[in-house]
Amino acid sequence: MRVDVITIFPEYLTPLDVSLVGKARRRGLLDVRVHDLREWTHDRHRTVDDTPYGGGPGMVMKPEPWGEALDEVTGGFGAEEPAPGPEAAGTPAPVGAPRPVLVVPTPSGTPFTQRIAAELAEEEWLVFTPARYEGIDRRVIDAYARRMEVRELSVGDYVLAGGEAPVLVMVEAVARLLPGVLGNAESHRDDSFADGAMASLLEGPVYTKPLEWRGHEVPEVLLSGHHGRISRWRRDEALRRTARNRPELLRVVDVETTDRADRAT
Ligand code: ADE
Repeated sequence: MRVDVITIFPEYLTPLDVSLVGKARRRGLLDVRVHDLREWTHDRHRTVDDTPYGGGPGMVMKPEPWGEALDEVTGGFGAEEPAPGPEAAGTPAPVGAPRPVLVVPTPSGTPFTQRIAAELAEEEWLVFTPARYEGIDRRVIDAYARRMEVRELSVGDYVLAGGEAPVLVMVEAVARLLPGVLGNAESHRDDSFADGAMASLLEGPVYTKPLEWRGHEVPEVLLSGHHGRISRWRRDEALRRTARNRPELLRVVDVETTDRADRAT
């Protein structure tokens, strides 16, 4: 997968060099390119923002640098395509040509979830546009939405100083779903929020050696070697934790699926 990030703080993205994402890059599973938006400014002060039309607090990111940056980074993708209309409908994209998906982090976006992470992990090419200030001039998003798929995504109901931290969150959530990135192909199957037998449940507690630590023992069932009992216990713990921490998730637990998984063990 290719990932481009256009930002006025390229150094903010240096965590993408370390840990799981850094390793995936070094192994050639992920091609991450970070670009400085100011490279596409032409004035002495390398200006990327201006005052908002209509007044109000804060500054808005100017459309020109974003337009030039996106044209260059995406290789002009979609620029020559006819505007969507009846005659353009059904025009196939060139076979095998990578299509960029533009990911716009914004607190006004739809919530970024594990399901969306999985959808993005299916794409070949993600282009992130983390904004500062009050956001990017709307015409940029609207113009590129006519040329490519655009996803405006929020990482939570709070306002950060910019979209860079959300990019780190989203790239990590997506990268760990890419084939070959996690050591064990199964290891994200039972993640909290993953699809599968434990769909919509939070993960329960985990234990490792030693058997006794400061007088506290590992739950006996985990030592039983009985896979059926162990998976039922894990499901019950997951339910308990979900009821306590995220009761609203229990409305969508598929009891049928979890029961069927129990019977299969
Ligand atoms: N930029 C600022 N706050 C954000 C949030 N919660 N999600 C995505 N982008 C943001």
